[in-house]
Amino acid sequence: RDITLSVFDRLKGVCQLLQDHLDAYDWVGFYFANHEKKTLHLSAYVGEPTDHLTIPFGKGICGQVAESNDNFVVPDVKAQDNYIACSITVKAEIVVPIFINGKNIGQIDIDSKTINPFNEDDERFLEFACKEVANLLDGIEIDSLLLEE
Ligand code: SME
Repeated sequence: RDITLSVFDRLKGVCQLLQDHLDAYDWVGFYFANHEKKTLHLSAYVGEPTDHLTIPFGKGICGQVAESNDNFVVPDVKAQDNYIACSITVKAEIVVPIFINGKNIGQIDIDSKTINPFNEDDERFLEFACKEVANLLDGIEIDSLLLEE
């Protein structure tokens, strides 16, 4: 009996675990970078479907993290002018980049319906999760993990 999960299914499992066990984590997903096109592309996620399957570098919270290589914690999305709204119910967001051999290859993106829910513990925990995900992805063809437009 082959019980091997695809990498996509394992990424989705990570999203599901985080959404199930962390109260304020309402939408959890992975975006991966195409460095030639300078775009981010949605991969596995849980939560409401989003129209934003592709995000240009620099646009929104996600696009800014593609360029800054740094965590971005948004306590209140209303206070951001460079923000892409996926749902009017979202109040806060956190994005943490994923690195393979020092290269920013994508990110985990979490939306919350609670205002100001994320602290430094979330950042440290998500950095750890992103390292585990990086190990899972090393050597994988990232294009095979992206959702179609
Ligand atoms: N809010 C994000 C867009 C992605 S959705 O949250 C799924 C942003 O501003 O980049």
